[in-house]
Amino acid sequence: MRRLAVFASGTGSNFDAIAAEIERGAVQAEISLVVCDRPGARVIEKAEAQGIETFVFSAKDYPDKAAYENELLTACREKGIEWLILAGYMRLIGPTLLEAYENRIVNIHPSLLPAFPGKDAIGQAFDKRVKVTGVTVHFVDAGMDTGPIIDQEAVRIDENDTRETLQKKIQAVEHRLYPAVIKELIAEEVVQ
Ligand code: GRF
Repeated sequence: MRRLAVFASGTGSNFDAIAAEIERGAVQAEISLVVCDRPGARVIEKAEAQGIETFVFSAKDYPDKAAYENELLTACREKGIEWLILAGYMRLIGPTLLEAYENRIVNIHPSLLPAFPGKDAIGQAFDKRVKVTGVTVHFVDAGMDTGPIIDQEAVRIDENDTRETLQKKIQAVEHRLYPAVIKELIAEEVVQ
């Protein structure tokens, strides 16, 4: 069993999707820790309901990124975490975690990167009136949504789509693609 930490700041629908695939036996892993930088976020209740340990913090309580990332690193090491799975975590990862988990931090982003990085990627694509957007899973580096791409899937924007319907379509792809990519990453590792 590979031990994962899921980093999230919001509702945790991707957390749900990954946890469900693990529960079903489709992904040979365990979510051993949920990290959240927003006290009160829904993902915290969801993790607790499944008996998963949480690490909840407010960045403003620390002097800098290295200070909270050092605590996070200790928590991850104590739990034997092997992969950091970013799912709606709204902070850039700093050198402390990047060096400790080189090539073991992945993120999901709701656009076809390198198009529409950063916040509100779905809104950005909608406002630009592009016909195709999508979902990207990528390794994390020091930049904002700039790391090497692992997989992508396109989503068409139809004439009658609203931001809400587009968001639903993108989320449906995310919830399928992310567990599938995690499964592959873990499987490749076993072969090595
Ligand atoms: C997802 O759209 C993901 O692509 C982005 O943040 C959102 C997280 O949603 N990075 P949720 O908390 O998993 O529902």
